[in-house]
Amino acid sequence: MIGESTLRLAGFLSDCETRSGQTIARELGCTRAAVWKQIETLRQLGIGVNAVAGQGYRLSEPLELLDREKILAVRGTAFQAELRQLDILSEIDSTNSELLRRGAGHRHSCAVIAERQTGGRGRRGRQWHSPFGRNIYLSLGWKFESGLGQLGCLPLVVAISASSALLRMGLRGRTIKWPNDLLLEGRKIGGCLVEVQGDLNGPCHAVMGVGINVRMPDIEQPKSIGRAWTDVSSHIAGASRNELAALLLDELVKAMTVYRLGGFEPFREAWAGLDELKDKPVTLFRDQKKITGIARGLGERGGLLLERSGVVDEFHAGEVREPLIYSGRSRL
Ligand code: BTN
Repeated sequence: MIGESTLRLAGFLSDCETRSGQTIARELGCTRAAVWKQIETLRQLGIGVNAVAGQGYRLSEPLELLDREKILAVRGTAFQAELRQLDILSEIDSTNSELLRRGAGHRHSCAVIAERQTGGRGRRGRQWHSPFGRNIYLSLGWKFESGLGQLGCLPLVVAISASSALLRMGLRGRTIKWPNDLLLEGRKIGGCLVEVQGDLNGPCHAVMGVGINVRMPDIEQPKSIGRAWTDVSSHIAGASRNELAALLLDELVKAMTVYRLGGFEPFREAWAGLDELKDKPVTLFRDQKKITGIARGLGERGGLLLERSGVVDEFHAGEVREPLIYSGRSRL
């Protein structure tokens, strides 16, 4: 577990100034030996700490820790009035799992954001790479009265909301690969995991998880991503995680009200403008089968339309692959 003093040390060094062991020990109220131990802990978390001979320690790159006050103060956002609870955790297995563990009555309009996930979950049982202090790992719980049957398009709405947040950060060239992979210039920048529980026709609850790569470590090539990937800071120098978290919450909360009242129709046009696969040849992997065709956009119920031999069918589950899968990171 990441302790309070490790977080304080990370915050104290976050501006990349060099500070002596003595200064740090005074600031944290501990011994020099304890400082050294905490420095090792930061390194194990993937934070580069350089020892500067005769001077002290400094981070190899700036670090922006999540800060509740900063998130709540981002200008141009209105989610604060709607959100019941915002929890910022230093470490958790998965922000989705954390909300799911809370009783159904305790997660409506509650958000959890974490500095790191030790068991981050992606779609289709995959692992979601979640290093400390670098990306966004956020989940929002929401209650719907309409029944599970009405939530089929919610994963698409979550992706559209996340994509809008990225646009508000200044990122163009965003698309969504059905159902909810977030891409930037064809490379994966984030993903969504929506989990629902409840009655088919009565009240139900959704936990909507979004992961966005903000500042991935240079040295790592997370194999779990499985395709070409990028991060926000490769396109916007100094991008703020706190700002992105606030914009994401703002877009998600706004979208929930629209979706509850109007279903998916108000979002259909936005989807069409973001559809990565439209008119491309793709293969859908489903129940050990490969279905190959031309993607023709979204069906009535939010499924993927695939044209095969002139016939168009709607598919609701599966993993889409395009013919070209690159690997590695893109840089400016
Ligand atoms: C995917 O593209 O496979 C979906 C990734 C979803 C990751 C997010 S990070 C926050 C939330 N907590 C999790 O364990 N997963 C989601």
